Amino acid sequence: TRVTLVGVPLDCGKRRPGCLMGPDSFRVAGLAEALTALGHEVRDIGNLAPGPAREVPGAHLYRAGEVAAWTETLIATGRALPDMPIFMGGDHALSCGSVAAMAARASDRGRPLFLLWLDAHSDYHTLATTESGNLHGCPVAYATGQPDFDGFPDLPARVAHENICMIGLRSVDPSERDRLAGTEAVLHDMRAIDEHGIAAPLPAFLDRVRAAGGDLHVSFDIDFLDPSIAPAVVTTVPGGATFREAHLVMEMLCEAGLVTSLDLVELNPALDERGRSARLMVNLTESLMGRKIFDRPTRARG
Ligand code: ARG
Ligand code: MN
Ligand code: MN
Ligand code: MN
Repeated sequence: TRVTLVGVPLDCGKRRPGCLMGPDSFRVAGLAEALTALGHEVRDIGNLAPGPAREVPGAHLYRAGEVAAWTETLIATGRALPDMPIFMGGDHALSCGSVAAMAARASDRGRPLFLLWLDAHSDYHTLATTESGNLHGCPVAYATGQPDFDGFPDLPARVAHENICMIGLRSVDPSERDRLAGTEAVLHDMRAIDEHGIAAPLPAFLDRVRAAGGDLHVSFDIDFLDPSIAPAVVTTVPGGATFREAHLVMEMLCEAGLVTSLDLVELNPALDERGRSARLMVNLTESLMGRKIFDRPTRARG
């Protein structure tokens, strides 16, 4: 696969700084080298920079004009990227842009976009419902075309709720829960994981992607993982995915051969312990991209 690494040092989606160092932390942890060693053709296009902040009304919002500017840049740049982009964050507000860009790119190719959201949080706030004012809690609402994103770029293409699967949920605000519950998104929370296993919703979801001839974007928030194995995150929520659960998800995605783009977000290197969180994210990306214990045949995307 031809992989394009895109650095997105967006750090304005929440108050505590540090995610701007994420892209370089992934570089130092050897992401490009690891993917090259797996036989992929890797190109690192460096870090993007946003245009001037846009006008976004809302006194309780934190640096929303900057997030809107990043969104505009990401849509313009991301839409034109070939093959498989990996967006190295940066906090999760970047997914307003990366997901919108991948939806636009898919629609340019006459395909629907499917979204696998690996996260403790559902990030389904609008500018009107967010209580924290932090826009890293908003990307799924934006990308699905919910109202109340004044000042943000118009969405070139929206993601349908029925094309979304969320795994790892354990911190969902009441208003997010109420609005999400009325949609067709697949919501696999920790309670469902404990009862049915982490992989339970994947085969049916991946079958739907394949049947629809869809693109598949995976948005990997590091707080999907348990903080004991990935401490480099501000919004730690206990009870996350284990090392083995996370690798299993990546390996199943690899075998399906359907993933067309990836976000790696919310890594805060200032909070890491000797680089272990960054390294784990690289290892998980290796599993997604073909590293396995035994070399069973995999399907490549045609
Ligand atoms: N729901 C909370 C909020 O809106 C937390 C969002 C956390 N999002 C994240 N990408 N870590 O503030
Ligand atoms: Mn999260
Ligand atoms: Mn909230
Ligand atoms: Mn998130």
